Amino acid sequence: MSTSEKKPLRSRRWFDNPANPGMTALYIERYMNYGITREELQSGKPIIGIAQTGSDLSPCNRHHMDLATRVRDGIRDMGGIPLEFPVHPIQETGKRPTAALDRNLAYLGLVEILHGYPLDGVVLTTGCDKTTPACLMAAATVNIPAIVLSGGPMLDGWWKGKLAGSGTVVWDARKRLSAGEIGYDEFMNNVASSAPSVGHCNTMGTALSMNSLAEALGMSLPGCAAIPGPYRERGWMAYETGRRIVDMVRENLRPSDIMTQAAFENAVVAAAALGGSSNCPIHMVAIARHMGVDHTLADWQRLGPDIPLLVDCQPAGRFLGEAFHRAGGVPAVMKELLDAGKVNGAAMTVTGKTLAENLAAVPAPDREVIRAYATPLKEAAGYVVLTGNLFDNAVIKTSVIDEKFRARFLSDPAHPNVMDLKAFVFEGPEDYHDRIEDPALGIDEKSILVIRNSGPVGYPGGAEVVNMQPPAYLLNKGIDTLPTMGDGRQSGTSASPSILNVSPESVVGGGLALLRTGDTVRVDLNTCRVDVLIADEELEARRAAWVKPELLNMTPWEEIYRGMVGQQGDGACLESATAYVDIIQTRGES
Ligand code: FES
Ligand code: MG
Repeated sequence: MSTSEKKPLRSRRWFDNPANPGMTALYIERYMNYGITREELQSGKPIIGIAQTGSDLSPCNRHHMDLATRVRDGIRDMGGIPLEFPVHPIQETGKRPTAALDRNLAYLGLVEILHGYPLDGVVLTTGCDKTTPACLMAAATVNIPAIVLSGGPMLDGWWKGKLAGSGTVVWDARKRLSAGEIGYDEFMNNVASSAPSVGHCNTMGTALSMNSLAEALGMSLPGCAAIPGPYRERGWMAYETGRRIVDMVRENLRPSDIMTQAAFENAVVAAAALGGSSNCPIHMVAIARHMGVDHTLADWQRLGPDIPLLVDCQPAGRFLGEAFHRAGGVPAVMKELLDAGKVNGAAMTVTGKTLAENLAAVPAPDREVIRAYATPLKEAAGYVVLTGNLFDNAVIKTSVIDEKFRARFLSDPAHPNVMDLKAFVFEGPEDYHDRIEDPALGIDEKSILVIRNSGPVGYPGGAEVVNMQPPAYLLNKGIDTLPTMGDGRQSGTSASPSILNVSPESVVGGGLALLRTGDTVRVDLNTCRVDVLIADEELEARRAAWVKPELLNMTPWEEIYRGMVGQQGDGACLESATAYVDIIQTRGES
């Protein structure tokens, strides 16, 4: 149960405030104009927001518009009153220049709604990548009772008898298109085959990873994350979620009771076992900072690298969302981790019970898809946090380092896990696309492709571009992956073992700005360092000569964002917003 002190419902301040009948009348009359009665609004029933992230612009979350009906049913059946409202859309595949720019915008908008309207609790509808962190960040800041309803992955995609997973199929088909193996129409049809139904990406990309971590954090009902969007169980889950939030309000069970340090540590371990997206560390650090919890990349490096990969999902493995759900989903993974002593079973969850209590009756999973802790798919498969003379921190997702990459780059018997590579530096995605096929560059199998100007300030938002594909002449020789590095991000659906999220980024003076094509870069996974092998004096001379690039803002928000955003290693938050934690408790109601 909550340790929070019980308080009268905050919606009473709007709808039933005898001290100010004038304002009460003004507040209440307009909410009656579409048919809600005064009696209902003044009955003392909890008013529950449904934060609607679905729209025609947000196909990954669009079916939440239908699921909301079942959420409303659940809320009503438990004696609450639902009020649904829109969240600023964040569509990963549709927003230019990048959906990452809008995570913090949706966060700001949702904070204003949760704080400024008569809501006692909220159902957060999540799905596409940034919708989950945006909603959880806002719930953390305002800290009213909140529960996540995931939309679930699309059904498994199929192409010519083989599974076609979201995103992952794009990276694969693009290589075959570049190599001339397939034409444009086959390429398009192959990619589209991965999207056979409503729902978000069906791979363990950022969407399924972040919804799984919302569940691992304790913020959704057990089993919520992985139910595919079209399954009847998804509607059942919507109903149960609507029911549960009403009692959470009555119990005053708030995000701060659930999203504790222990919960974030559990999520780090879960992310590694899932083979989760390389965007997870950024988002989890951001949510924690808005919750006022001390949780940094150091915790990811402390807790993650030794955790084995348990889930056999693309891009690190073979299967997709349907198989993951049928195999047992997040509860099965958490049970493995709990039994192995790797997660804290005392962490509170939205059920009002602890993680361990929720997991008590979880059946054994399908071992084809979810492995036992003792017999994993890969040992030591978590994220590794790197540092060096070019940056403070960067992340590499080791679960996607395959045998081919290991044999080619990491198996020198004299220096195992060390790569000395010639840098080829690109100034951004446009420069990369313009020049990558130029044979005069001389890119070969001893090269590292580097991209800069792609971080949160540079792009802006942070571009998903670091998983750069080698030139076609190398693809044709069978070299389908080169080491890559950049201050951008990459899609969680990519199997590229890139060094990414480099912080600080080049446009704010990070060391990547000083790197030149031809420099030797040493990547040492034993010491978790990346260094350019040039003298300190030379590096300092380059720093002295560096000129900050001019950045053109296309919209007012880009200017505001660039002025406030921090680096990816710190969650790419609006820095001054992180001072606002639990605002109703700490600042009162306005
Ligand atoms: Fe929306 Fe992947 S593009 S979930
Ligand atoms: Mg993405």
